[in-house]
Amino acid sequence: MTPITQSIPALEQLVDRFGRRLHYLRLSITDLCNLRCRYCMPPQGIEKLPQDMVLTLEELARVSRVAVGLGVDKIRLTGGEPLLRKGLPRLLDELKSLTPRPDLRITTNGILLAQKLPELAAGGVSTVNVSLDSLKPEIYARITGLGDPAGREALAKVWGGIQAALAQPGLQVKLNVVLLGGINEDEIVDFARLTLEHPVAVRFIEYMPVGRNTPFQPEHFLAAEQVLQRIRALGAVEPLAQRPGDGPAQRLRLAGAPGELGIISALSSHFCATCNRIRLSSEGQVVPCLLSDTAVELKPLLRGGADDAALARALLEAARLKPQNHHQGVLSPHAAGCQMSRLGG
Ligand code: 5AD
Ligand code: SF4
Repeated sequence: MTPITQSIPALEQLVDRFGRRLHYLRLSITDLCNLRCRYCMPPQGIEKLPQDMVLTLEELARVSRVAVGLGVDKIRLTGGEPLLRKGLPRLLDELKSLTPRPDLRITTNGILLAQKLPELAAGGVSTVNVSLDSLKPEIYARITGLGDPAGREALAKVWGGIQAALAQPGLQVKLNVVLLGGINEDEIVDFARLTLEHPVAVRFIEYMPVGRNTPFQPEHFLAAEQVLQRIRALGAVEPLAQRPGDGPAQRLRLAGAPGELGIISALSSHFCATCNRIRLSSEGQVVPCLLSDTAVELKPLLRGGADDAALARALLEAARLKPQNHHQGVLSPHAAGCQMSRLGG
């Protein structure tokens, strides 16, 4: 691969107009998914992108390299379902050989996790976030749109993947639980208890009005504060200090637990002031904010012979366009932004 061209000032970093340094790139590597989570996709799924609309592995690696040159030090692979992307080991190889080497993470629905774990370990992935919204087969089947018996079988696979990941030396495992009032809210305590048994981080995520394919259903919104109350019912919880580069989760630990808890309150309390993220959609749009419509197209540059300096300028422009905050409220949400399955949360 060619080094970044001289025309980029060496110290140029992705910093937005409000002084936030954007050093965390979320890379959606496919729009395909093997689930139909009710908050993300309609039951019949959505039309898949024509293959030539999706960035190639080379293009993904190139954008990542330019981004690392601008100070990105953490890259998360998302989807759709990133484990469905062919050639994932090749992409990981490219990413782990960038200098300085970024911290590589992945967010998966876990169905293929047990099967692909060796590839992730070989590819230098430090952390796997598994999306799992229910521990009950019938509820899991309902949330993921799989129905029975497919839902039951899928949940068993995901659980097997989580066990395998927990047994993988050096790999951090997090569970992402999107809370849906009236659907999985009675499982908060069961999920929290997992942290007493396993060194896992269980993170409860507020349901957000993202994507255009699924209408937001405010009746299923559950605020972080209510989650906290239920966790407190389990016993003493201690707050954990924020570490540099930590995401927006408020971190907690149940007394004596090997694992930890996180609460991500995207709507009820804005954490925009400390946002360090920039996203690349599977079709090559740089999206500075998950909840806004602004995007910078990279595909014309990537496929039109642009040099790395031009790509860097496009990334810097996207950083400049990052809004100060998302202005979304619980009572007046408006679905905005690129659809979740092409952007990956
Ligand atoms: N609200 C909150 N989280 C969501 N995710 C997808 N759609 C939504 C939504 N509407 C989460 C998934 C996964 C991550 C990629 O984003 O559950 O954990
Ligand atoms: Fe569910 Fe993620 Fe697939 Fe959307 S992309 S259907 S949230 S697993």
